[in-house]
Amino acid sequence: MDLTVNNLRLHVEEHGQGPPLLLLHAFPLRGAMWAPQVAALQNRYRLIIPDIRGFGDSELPGAGYTLDDVAQDLIALLDQLGIAQAIVGGLSMGGYLAFALYRQAPERVRALILADTKPQEDSDEARQTRYASARTAREQGAAAIAEAMVPRLLGATTLRTNSALADEVRSMIGGNQPEAIAAAQEAMAVRPDSRPLLPQLAVPTLIVVGAEDLLTPPADARAMQAAMPNAQLAEIAAAGHLSNLEQPEQFSQAVAGFLATFSMS
Ligand code: MLT
Repeated sequence: MDLTVNNLRLHVEEHGQGPPLLLLHAFPLRGAMWAPQVAALQNRYRLIIPDIRGFGDSELPGAGYTLDDVAQDLIALLDQLGIAQAIVGGLSMGGYLAFALYRQAPERVRALILADTKPQEDSDEARQTRYASARTAREQGAAAIAEAMVPRLLGATTLRTNSALADEVRSMIGGNQPEAIAAAQEAMAVRPDSRPLLPQLAVPTLIVVGAEDLLTPPADARAMQAAMPNAQLAEIAAAGHLSNLEQPEQFSQAVAGFLATFSMS
């Protein structure tokens, strides 16, 4: 469905019934990347899956924006759907957004799933790489970004054995507007350091990481877990950065097992 929230038209998929589970996609994909988790979890949870502004079928606002603005979209989305509190799960950029949402409205977050993500801000070098990538997106289009990113988003096992998934990810990225990709890079470049937030994140938290994730590697996930009071860690074998797509059964099982450990009351 399409909803107008925070003065923007957002495309949002909603599936199933039960405790609300808001799933936030990675950069530069779209909500459809959560299809395996919809299949696995919709019999027990109400999944709310937006295309983040600009991506997929959601509207891209004209001017530059920050991840805090995107978090405002998400809070307005929960308001509009009448959801006081949700389990919030995000992969990579989705995790950055989960931190931003928690910073603005901690009372809306019942639990967190932080997949293949990291709390630290960008180094100066990483920021420059993002600005270069934004230029590439604007000058050469989304397909060029897909070509550059797929070999790093997917783990070695997937790259060796699952060319169909590589094609699917390439096509999800290639279907996005170049300007959305550029704007998101610019927003991520100026995101704050979320490490100071970690000790305050007392809600039940599942950290998930692909064992072959080169972008946010298992060592980063372990450091994040150590800094949080109530986090458990699931390492997904034979998966890279897009662990939910690369090993959907392992990923969904880890999430279902975690969700079964607490109630939504
Ligand atoms: C993602 O998968 O969302 C990206 O790797 C995030 C990033 O570029 O930092």
